[in-house]
Amino acid sequence: PELYAPARVNSMGFDLMHTPTLDVIESARAPWKAHRWAAVPLLNGEAKPKKSARLMNPAASGRSPGTVRNASEADVAKALDNAAVWDAPLEERREVLLRAADMLESHYGEIFALLSREAGKGLPDCVAELREAVDFLRYYAQQATNTPPAGIFTCISPWNFPLAIFCGQVSAALAAGNAVLAKPAEQTPLIAFLAVTLLHDAGVPRHALQLLPGGGEVGAALTSDKRINGVAFTGSTATALRIRSAMAEHCDPGAILIAETGGLNAMIVDSTALPEQAVQSVVESAFQSAGQRCSALRCLYIQEDIAEDVIEMLEGAMDALVMGNPWDISTDVGPVIDETAQKGIAEHIETARAEGRIIAELTAPTIGTFIAPTMIRVNGIADLEREIFGPVLHIATFKATELDKAIDAINATGYGLTFGLHTRIDDRVQHVSERIEAGNIYVNRNQIGAIVGSQPFGGEGLSGTGPKAGGPNYLPRFSAPDLKVVEDTW
Ligand code: NAD
Ligand code: ALA
Repeated sequence: PELYAPARVNSMGFDLMHTPTLDVIESARAPWKAHRWAAVPLLNGEAKPKKSARLMNPAASGRSPGTVRNASEADVAKALDNAAVWDAPLEERREVLLRAADMLESHYGEIFALLSREAGKGLPDCVAELREAVDFLRYYAQQATNTPPAGIFTCISPWNFPLAIFCGQVSAALAAGNAVLAKPAEQTPLIAFLAVTLLHDAGVPRHALQLLPGGGEVGAALTSDKRINGVAFTGSTATALRIRSAMAEHCDPGAILIAETGGLNAMIVDSTALPEQAVQSVVESAFQSAGQRCSALRCLYIQEDIAEDVIEMLEGAMDALVMGNPWDISTDVGPVIDETAQKGIAEHIETARAEGRIIAELTAPTIGTFIAPTMIRVNGIADLEREIFGPVLHIATFKATELDKAIDAINATGYGLTFGLHTRIDDRVQHVSERIEAGNIYVNRNQIGAIVGSQPFGGEGLSGTGPKAGGPNYLPRFSAPDLKVVEDTW
């Protein structure tokens, strides 16, 4: 019989352990090492000339990857006036999105250089980010149907996944046939500019996709207009709540809000866990991407009986981490995104130091906005007053009889994004996963890096409205409201 291949497979990425592959990547990145990019609004019509601002490379104080010309009020008004849904036949929309995915993949040299120089990402994160971006494009292209679009959709993304989340939101809104107004984070407009340029080159019409770089003021303008039919937002819970209020005041009651927000993510390691496996998972979950993932581990609960040993092993594993320029392949932990982030995290660490709660810390490079990986002792997750968005791991212990108490404390934060469990007791896996309130639960592995199509990603409670990105319920939410799959918990 004829054998059919799957309709879609995820991107294969690159094997960074294979030296010839690394050499090829190195040659592809090299021409972009000192390049200066420029992002401007991409409207359906001319943008108003305005002064440009200089962007900063977080790993190298004073070095700039390029400039951005943010959207003005007049640009926002023009984008709204000239937005029109993408009414091309379904097959054409699919083909264009698939072409855009191929084009993104073929630009990997420039994209990796930009991700490192604009967002401070190390090579493994660059590879993962490009993979996730193209996986989103292909997944939503495959899932697209002929249901009517919602209309005008604003997509607002964070700096920590400047390509993957940006492309995920935009491609879902486009696959459903909407007119998209895309606002990237103010720290990372260059990568968004490149992505939109490639989407336009692939065939997405200008009226269906416009780029409006800028900060909160541009985001606010794009979420407070009656013509907006939907907003896809990823970022902090505080901003999501502001957007919800703005939409309630200015938009139609049927306007859609998809908000994927922050978390206070925990992991429980009990005394039956394999210590080596747990330690590797903890280090990856807390320190990979310099802890700047919404999914990252913030508070580790270790059963008292094994706590001393596990903490000693964690100290050893943390000591082996190499901090430095994310461009270098030997770097494990790069910078945090900017001085504001660095200052906020440093203040948190200094408070812990003053209270004598530092367990261990590394030393950060002095050039660039670095925070050294740090472990801090806490009584429990309730001691964390906010999401510390950097390489800081808080550690609490629990007695054998206190497992449910730990679960209650984790649930009581009100967040519910990711959760990790290390145990070799099957019944416990069942018990904990039934009781814990989190969108993504990971057992005996790390708790970052959800895979499009197989691990739909998103939280509950203060961590988001749902539906989960990269899962089957996401795309229907971008269609006209009477056809949406309602999974909204807000
Ligand atoms: P942020 O909320 O400060 O900014 C996110 C975006 O919102 C940016 O584009 C920003 O310009 C825009 N914005 C700011 N004020 C606005 C307003 N009043 N109206 C409209 N838009 C506005 O978040 P951040 O610091 O860029 O990102 C980090 C946060 O994102 C963390 O809390 C992290 O947990 C969260 N995050 C969540 C997910 C997820 O999938 N749940 C993924 C990545 C990041
Ligand atoms: N989807 C990203 C992860 O799982 C945020 O780490």
